[in-house]
Amino acid sequence: MPAITRRRSHSQEWYERAQKYLIEGVNSPSRGSAVYAPGPIVLERGQGSQVWDLDGNQYTDFMMSFGALIHGHAHPAIVETVYQAMAEGSHFAAATPAELEAAERFCRMVPSAEAVRFTNSGTEATMLALRLARGFTGRNKLLKFEGHYHGWYDPYLLNAHGHPPQQLGPPENPARMPDSLGIPASTFAEVVVAPWNDVSELERVMQKRGDELAAVITEPIMANMGCIPPREGYLQRLQELAQKHGALLILDEVVTGFRYAPGGMQQLWGLKPDLSTFGKAMGAGFPVGAVTGRRKILEQMRWSEDMVLHYGTFNGHRLTMKVIAANLDLLADQGNAALRKIRNLGDMAISGLRDAFARHKIKSVVQGFGPMFQIYFTGREAIHDYRDYCAHVDAARYSRFVHLLLGEGIYMTPSNGLHWIISTAHSEADIQALVRAADKVCARLT
Ligand SMILES: Cc1ncc(COP(=O)(O)O)c(C=O)c1O
Repeated sequence: MPAITRRRSHSQEWYERAQKYLIEGVNSPSRGSAVYAPGPIVLERGQGSQVWDLDGNQYTDFMMSFGALIHGHAHPAIVETVYQAMAEGSHFAAATPAELEAAERFCRMVPSAEAVRFTNSGTEATMLALRLARGFTGRNKLLKFEGHYHGWYDPYLLNAHGHPPQQLGPPENPARMPDSLGIPASTFAEVVVAPWNDVSELERVMQKRGDELAAVITEPIMANMGCIPPREGYLQRLQELAQKHGALLILDEVVTGFRYAPGGMQQLWGLKPDLSTFGKAMGAGFPVGAVTGRRKILEQMRWSEDMVLHYGTFNGHRLTMKVIAANLDLLADQGNAALRKIRNLGDMAISGLRDAFARHKIKSVVQGFGPMFQIYFTGREAIHDYRDYCAHVDAARYSRFVHLLLGEGIYMTPSNGLHWIISTAHSEADIQALVRAADKVCARLT
């Protein structure tokens, strides 16, 4: 059972010092006081499913680096791989056997992968995918969906954050809300925004704008407003319509990839994206991304006068390539036993949490399946899209709930827009600890 003293004095002290040199004391707003008010818990060490903070408090980690740690912290096979690779030289920025070891495994596992290009983050992967789509189609416009996040590249930063429902505008003509300053209006002029998970809206927007689109990008499970699966047949229809209008379908599997199935949701649901992007779990904690898909599209990166340019000192980083190969071997071992394990544990957590909320008569939905899910405090039976999320989810209550859990040794981000992650390092005992803690804090939840 995690040991919790509830002392946070070292975290607080660190946070005061860090603010002098780091904006908000951190390197991403999702880690600072906007989410963890009054200040973050500062983590120092991790092992398996457990993490320790600066004050010596121990937690069972269900955030797992926003899903990057598919094998939890310091998995022995990953640690060994890193030691060995480091001793031989971390990176050469040259052709290496390591990049082929990673690429062969990747292309064996992902059904649409006729070739792959590795990047250093999910954001770089989605940047490259859009450039490839524009190069291939000769068109500029992009269709993205409300509430979908594809990294922090300029054209994707429209309507990716939650807003009060009265600001959203009508579904057929959503208000256009940039998520960042510093992006030219001309960039957003190339972006069409539509609600997700609504076939009639999709048909309408494709009818009107489909022939202008270079690409349609979608997450297969909406993972940045919690965890919102698609309605049955929605993604298949999206694929059909993209094809009909000559727009490329980019499936953004940065969150779902190597988590639900060896080949992502495209394998589980029989999708055939033109391009797809991966990251997070593929790197087992190391910074990475990948773009894959039809060879003809990827071939545009071959050196010529009319190429799609993609440079990068750290592309195909040798250490990371070694980690990817070791990681994919672990996932594929014994007929993908690891993926079955996290699916079962996730389902166990979901049903345990549902029971706990029912016992305490707390109106809620625990949504998702297997290794990725989210809790919504809502009177609704399900959250189907961004508009549901903005109008019907009590995110402040969720934040209070997670703050109470932090005091019981469960580590999770208080942001309702993210999701719970089960790694191969979790055990049934971890799930029982989570359900027990949830049960305990439900009694105190306001
Ligand atoms: C669906 C999706 N795509 C892309 C990204 C960007 O990945 P990264 O944070 O590695 O740049 C994220 C990050 O959370 C994501 O959730």
